[in-house]
Order: sequence, then C-alpha cells, then structure tokens
Amino acid sequence: MPTSPMLTASESTASTRLREGGAVVRKAKLPDAVNIFDLVNSLSGDGTLLRRSYAEICENVRDFAVAQSESGVFLGCGALHLYGPHLAEVRSIVVKPEAKGQGAGGRLLRALLEEAEEQKVTAVCLFTRIPDFFFHFGFRVVDRTTLPDKIYKDCQTCPRLYACDEVAMVRGPLPKIAVLGPSRIAQPELVKLQTGTVTPGS
Ligand SMILES: CC(C)(COP(=O)(O)OP(=O)(O)OC[C@H]1O[C@@H](n2cnc3c(N)ncnc32)[C@H](O)[C@@H]1OP(=O)(O)O)[C@@H](O)C(=O)NCCC(=O)NCCS
Repeated sequence: MPTSPMLTASESTASTRLREGGAVVRKAKLPDAVNIFDLVNSLSGDGTLLRRSYAEICENVRDFAVAQSESGVFLGCGALHLYGPHLAEVRSIVVKPEAKGQGAGGRLLRALLEEAEEQKVTAVCLFTRIPDFFFHFGFRVVDRTTLPDKIYKDCQTCPRLYACDEVAMVRGPLPKIAVLGPSRIAQPELVKLQTGTVTPGS
C-alpha cells in the first residue's frame, strides 16, 4: 500500500513498526461479515461502537477493511463510509482485545485514510470517546454541528442524542456542503368515514 504524503511524524512511527511485521490489512469479503458482526457488536452494548446488523454489514461489506495475522487469523476491522467528495467517515474500527497495542488498529486506520485519498475525498470524520488515538493520525476535535451529514445519518435515531459522550473529529477541511437532511415521515393514508343516514332496505 503506498505511503500517504500527508502522514505526520507520529503516523510514520506507527507505519515503520507495521512494516516490520504484524497485522496485514486487506479489503473485506462477504465471508468476513460474521467476524465483523461479532466483534463490532461485542462493543455496542456500552455504546463504544454503533450496533450494526448482519444484513447491514453484508450490504456494506465493501466499505470494510480487515486486519489479520500473517497466518490469516481475523484481528479487527474498520469501515470507510462515503458521503460524497466532501466527506467520508471512519466507522466500526476495532481490534480484538488480545491483538490491541500491536499496530493493527493504526494499520486499519491508515488503510481507510489511504482509501479516502484514493477516492479524492477532502475530509474524513468520526465520532469517538478516544480522541487521543485519532490525534496520532491527524484528526482534530470539531463542533459536531459542522457535520450535518453524520448527524442526519446516525444521531437523529440514536438513543443518546441528547446525552452523547462522544467527540466529533475531522481530518482535513470542514465540509462546506451536506447531502443528507431530515427524513420525511410519510403521512399514513387515513380511512375516510362515510357520514349520513342509512335507509333501511336500501
Ligand atoms: C482504538 C483501537 C482500534 C486501537 O487499536 P490498536 O491496535 O490497539 O492500536 P495501535 O497498536 O495500532 O496503536 C497506534 C498508535 O495509537 C496509540 N493508541 C492506541 N490506542 C490508544 C488509545 N486508546 N488512546 C490513545 N492512543 C492510543 C498507540 O500507542 C500507538 O501509538 P504509537 O504509534 O505512537 O506507538 C483499539 O484499542 C480498539 O479496538 N478499541 C476498542 C474499540 C474502539 O474504541 N474503537 C474506536 C471507536 S471510534
């Protein structure tokens, strides 16, 4: 995978260590969906990650990258959701507990950022409780209202809408446009009641 010219010194440290061995990152395939589903949802109970249904993971499996050991053991995953050329989002990034601290998470994130660059996306965002991890990779904290696409995609339906403990982060310039807006709820068709008198025998 080519090295991004935008990487900082801290990012390069992680990159150097990974080149020495360890996790291999590749695009996810449908057979990975079960591992992705199990790992992501193992951390959705406490709100660390958004819950993803198996169907949603299958439908969006091309968004995902997976990390695996050199012998092919699944170690973790992450996804890049494209809103448009103005914005992409890192989602569902997670490494199995026993594989943490060995570079897999950094390698996954770098692969997703490189994919965003290949797609010519100008900004990458995410919501997180661990901003320190993402500072390593050039993200900064921003006001969440600067990311209406993310808010309309996930926050509106989130039970923590008014008690959110995550910070919004962006890498790159803040998007100047948004493609999502409030969803319209279709009015149910009402049954029209007939009024008037019924003539017996008619
Ligand atoms: C966050 C997570 C993916 C990191 O994966 P990892 O494989 O342990 O991370 P790495 O070993 O690649 O670490 C890369 C760099 O980030 C640093 N780092 C790792 N976790 C960190 C954290 N929680 N806070 C701050 N820095 C962190 C490492 O020290 C390393 O820095 P260095 O290159 O200067 O040594 C992993 O801890 C995880 O799965 N957490 C639970 C799920 C989660 O919270 N996901 C984020 C949701 S937005």
